[in-house]
Amino acid sequence: MKNARLFLLLIIALAMMALVACGGGTTTTEEAVATEAPAEEAPAEEVEAPAEEVSGKVGIVLPTRDEPRWVQDETRFREALEAAGYEVEILFSQGDSARERSNVEDLITQGVQVLIITPHDGTAAAAAAEAARDAGVSVISYDRLIRDTDAVDYYVTFDSIAVGAQQAQFLVDNAEGEGNPLYLYAGAATDNNAFIFFEGAWGVLQPKIADGTFRIVNSSEAVALQDTAELTREQMAGIIDQVTTNWDFNTARNLAEANLTSAPAEDKGDVFILAPNDGTARAIADVFATDTDVTSFLVTGQDAEQASVQYIIDGRQSMTVFKDVRTLVDDAIAAATALLVGEAPNATGSYNNGVVDVPAIQSPVVTVDQSNVVEALIDSGYYSADLFTGLDALGSGETEAPAAELSGKVGIVLPTRDEPRWV
Ligand code: BGC
Repeated sequence: MKNARLFLLLIIALAMMALVACGGGTTTTEEAVATEAPAEEAPAEEVEAPAEEVSGKVGIVLPTRDEPRWVQDETRFREALEAAGYEVEILFSQGDSARERSNVEDLITQGVQVLIITPHDGTAAAAAAEAARDAGVSVISYDRLIRDTDAVDYYVTFDSIAVGAQQAQFLVDNAEGEGNPLYLYAGAATDNNAFIFFEGAWGVLQPKIADGTFRIVNSSEAVALQDTAELTREQMAGIIDQVTTNWDFNTARNLAEANLTSAPAEDKGDVFILAPNDGTARAIADVFATDTDVTSFLVTGQDAEQASVQYIIDGRQSMTVFKDVRTLVDDAIAAATALLVGEAPNATGSYNNGVVDVPAIQSPVVTVDQSNVVEALIDSGYYSADLFTGLDALGSGETEAPAAELSGKVGIVLPTRDEPRWV
């Protein structure tokens, strides 16, 4: 009940913010998005007159509209906030810290009291967070942590160590023998998550590199550190610098092409690829798929982007790590509502951002491949089946009828009928 009330208060706050934005002639950036009027099906009981004691407003800033991942978040925020029939404004920074800063300043000018922000560059965003703090605005870091400042009140995140660990585990589980060529790719060094993902992956891969299962192909820094179980941030930075995709599809594609151009045939064959997210995974997979010396490849991802789900169904991407954005959005809204009414949000732990331990709530993540894609992403209601082709062959559970030419008999011998185990 309390949560429902808090949610209502936030909705009211957002409505108030939207009214200020629309009616007050205040500046909104060109990335500002206003959505339609209340949905007709909005439940009547949630639409009430603003409670007198509520005066809070919330602003949301996301890093770029050019990656489906953040469009997913935008959509889920809208679903959650507009269910009650109100407008919501979400600003995109388009991969530009200066625009991010001006977005934050616009929202401060509009009088927001809580800022939910995914920084483009975690360190550069400290200045924007401090500007917000100076204006009395509470700052919630959303998915990516703002670094090197104490002006972050709360962090809503997924278990990012597990993201990297699950990617790596998938490769380990599917590798046999020794000397398997391993290609490493990472996210943007400006994103704290890129380090956490890599740390999680390294923890699982390193023992399998040290024991000879894998052989790193494309990073001399990683090769030099292959016997080091735990890397410092500086050591990771050295590796990431060599294998960064910058979270950019073209950079990923170009790097994969350069890696394959310089790799001798013995570094190809059946290869294993640690790709940090879905967008870069598709770009990298497309390159590896065209190299005739690559006989097979496994490639990881994360985000369960629609395009990658289709790639997985089609066998063009091996796995993704599903991060249920609905949970993250709900957690962010719960944190914002708590802050608006002067309560401390729930926290399950904390993350050090270089200056302070930021209280955090962390959501679990799930490995998805062909074997569970239907269950995890369709049956769960995250995506509707009609967005994809080829699902029937995957998720039907149908077993093909035995081919007519098969004949043969199978005998089974069990040890005793006296133990229920064998019965
Ligand atoms: C997010 C990923 C996303 C990546 C690129 C990371 O901070 O956690 O989900 O794919 O940024 O935008």
